[in-house]
Amino acid sequence: EAGVFTYDPGFTSTAACESTITYIDGDQGELLYRGYPIEQLAEKSHYLEVCYLLLNGELPDREQMETFERTVTRHTMVHEQMHNFFRGFRRDAHPMATMVGVVGAMSAFYHDSTDVTDPRQREVASFRLVAKLPTIAAMAYKYSIGQPFVYPRNDLGYAANFLHMCFAVPAEPYHVPPELATAMDRIMMLHADHEQNASTSTVRLAGSSGANPFACIAAGIACLWGPAHGGANQACLEMLRQIGSVDRIPEFIARAKDKNDPFRLMGFGHRVYKNFDPRAKVMKQSADEVLDLLGIHNNPTLQVAKELERIALEDDYFVSKKLYPNVDFYSGIILEAMGFPTSMFTPIFALSRTVGWISQWKEMISDPSGRIGRPRQLYTGAPARDYVEVDNR
Ligand code: SDX
Repeated sequence: EAGVFTYDPGFTSTAACESTITYIDGDQGELLYRGYPIEQLAEKSHYLEVCYLLLNGELPDREQMETFERTVTRHTMVHEQMHNFFRGFRRDAHPMATMVGVVGAMSAFYHDSTDVTDPRQREVASFRLVAKLPTIAAMAYKYSIGQPFVYPRNDLGYAANFLHMCFAVPAEPYHVPPELATAMDRIMMLHADHEQNASTSTVRLAGSSGANPFACIAAGIACLWGPAHGGANQACLEMLRQIGSVDRIPEFIARAKDKNDPFRLMGFGHRVYKNFDPRAKVMKQSADEVLDLLGIHNNPTLQVAKELERIALEDDYFVSKKLYPNVDFYSGIILEAMGFPTSMFTPIFALSRTVGWISQWKEMISDPSGRIGRPRQLYTGAPARDYVEVDNR
């Protein structure tokens, strides 16, 4: 029941919590955002509409959508002083390091939306984070490649604006291909929320202390960075490149099964899904579409990925462990085809998940019975004993 701690020797014990936002059935491979199947949203909706749904619980009518989109659009610029903040980082800093630092510092620039007891300030903070994370991610990317920052534009949609801020340069106009914007928008939708995963639980736990929303989201970004979590999309593409060709797949399958080898197939397995990750299915279809659009045929990385999936899904070990491709298995192939370096894969996951983190944070912080999170433990250390002077040890 809600609030009951369940102890698990793997120290993966989780504090169950009640939520109305996202539902996952790991055995059925089902994912619902506020009751709507991810497959239907990916096909018929768009990211900002999914943001409205996650934040408010219902799909918007036309007027509500226009108001929401106008408000988000008008919050996409960051405080000009924040540009200097980027310049404190080395150019080769991982964009995730920059994002953790810059988002964590946002409370120093947006004082009027840090009081979590004020519903109005909570609303403003939510809009600012949804609106500004793509700008901050794009700035982290531009800074890492030594190009000037590109300001957001109010005449572009959310995903197109992000691509424009990443790929435009002052020297010449950059026209965002609509199909790429659609593919990016779909990637954002697929990553928007995912129940009580590690980074969302981090945001909830940080928020339960009353910390400001910017600090909580920075904590979520830090947790997402790990290769077992959101960092898997970068690690997966690097693994596919390392495999290089389909004839080397058996070697890596053997390593993944070897308990003495720490190697794991990145982009495979999940704490909850013991069937196909429904997001991976949509992502796989999108990969084919984007590569076709870009005229990239016989992409070796995609060929290795598809053959690896086919072999693994027939392998007794993976079948017995119920290991299937997850959301990170195909996403990197699409992002690489779009022109992003692997270091930008997890930042894109982070900016997409920000709305989920905020929705979950708002649900937690607005619960009047809410208390600070305080996981317990099963103590297996030394029993009580008296101090021993150093010469008697
Ligand atoms: C995300 O929680 C979420 O919702 C996360 C996420 C989200 O949207 O927020 O879905 C995003 O983080 C997806 C996961 C991305 N990570 C990776 O792709 C990294 C590779 N995957 C693994 O590290 C692993 O599958 C985890 C971390 C995802 C889950 O780890 P667990 O909890 O150990 O996996 P499990 O309990 O399901 O494992 C069952 C068995 C174990 O062996 P035994 O201890 O039973 O002998 O399968 C093994 C694992 O060792 N195993 C793998 C494996 N994943 C699990 N063996 C080889 N390759 C793998 N990828």
